[in-house]
Amino acid sequence: MIKVIIFFIFMIIITGASRGIGEFLLKNFISNGNNVIGTFLNTKPNNIYKSNYYKLDIANIDNVKLFFDKIKNKINNIVLINCAGTNYNSFAHKSDLKLWKNVIDVNLTGTFNVISEVLPIMRKQNYGRIINFSSIVAQTGIPGTSAYAASKAGLWGLTKSIAVENANKGITINTLNLGYFNIGMITQVPKKFQELTKQKIPTKEFGDPKNIFSTINYIINNDYLNGASIDINGAII
Ligand SMILES: NC(=O)c1ccc[n+]([C@@H]2O[C@H](COP(=O)([O-])OP(=O)(O)OC[C@H]3O[C@@H](n4cnc5c(N)ncnc54)[C@H](OP(=O)(O)O)[C@@H]3O)[C@@H](O)[C@H]2O)c1
Repeated sequence: MIKVIIFFIFMIIITGASRGIGEFLLKNFISNGNNVIGTFLNTKPNNIYKSNYYKLDIANIDNVKLFFDKIKNKINNIVLINCAGTNYNSFAHKSDLKLWKNVIDVNLTGTFNVISEVLPIMRKQNYGRIINFSSIVAQTGIPGTSAYAASKAGLWGLTKSIAVENANKGITINTLNLGYFNIGMITQVPKKFQELTKQKIPTKEFGDPKNIFSTINYIINNDYLNGASIDINGAII
């Protein structure tokens, strides 16, 4: 009997892949032999991976539509990793509404923009994986983070609803609630805050992003893990 081996080739799309966690994921998926498209906005991507990148502002729906128009012929079996994110630190009573709203526009509406454009393609293909990035910040209540926390908490409800709408089309959508990792945003906050934060983690260390990579692979390989919100935070208290 002739054995037919079918390789399932994914197209991994990572928004916000120009630095931090997104760039880390892009490099790891590429070195594992995957097809990967990463997006950047203001940070020029690493030259070695230039051909993998497209410019994209997720907060701009016309831009998102154009992005999918450009790549539509090369995307099958899509894994969408919604990594792009921004923050704005300010106490609520001192907040600039424009800057506050920008965080919602990027982290929540922007993530939705990308999902809403990818879903019709995934539904046609009867396959899809969507992974959103939320945060421990939305779970704990940290002063000065109302915009960021609100935007990240919104992703939980969005995830649940979209999971139910698309489960019968081979599509799963899940959210990762990240603790603090030794890459990206957290490395830009003052050292004093970093040290205080580490004291809340039993190992006293920030997470290694390889744990995000392995969790995403676990999600990709699981068709019944759907609508979930997964904490990866080293048992932070
Ligand atoms: N690092 C952590 O410990 C941690 C903890 C909890 C949650 N998270 C979440 O994990 C994700 C990645 O975090 P990170 O630490 O790697 O962040 P980061 O280093 O600050 O990188 C943010 C990325 O998002 C992109 N981006 C920002 N605004 C965008 C927009 N309007 N359209 C498209 N892309 C945009 C940036 O692109 P350009 O630079 O090219 O403009 C960059 O590639 C975020 O969603 C963050 O909230 C991170």
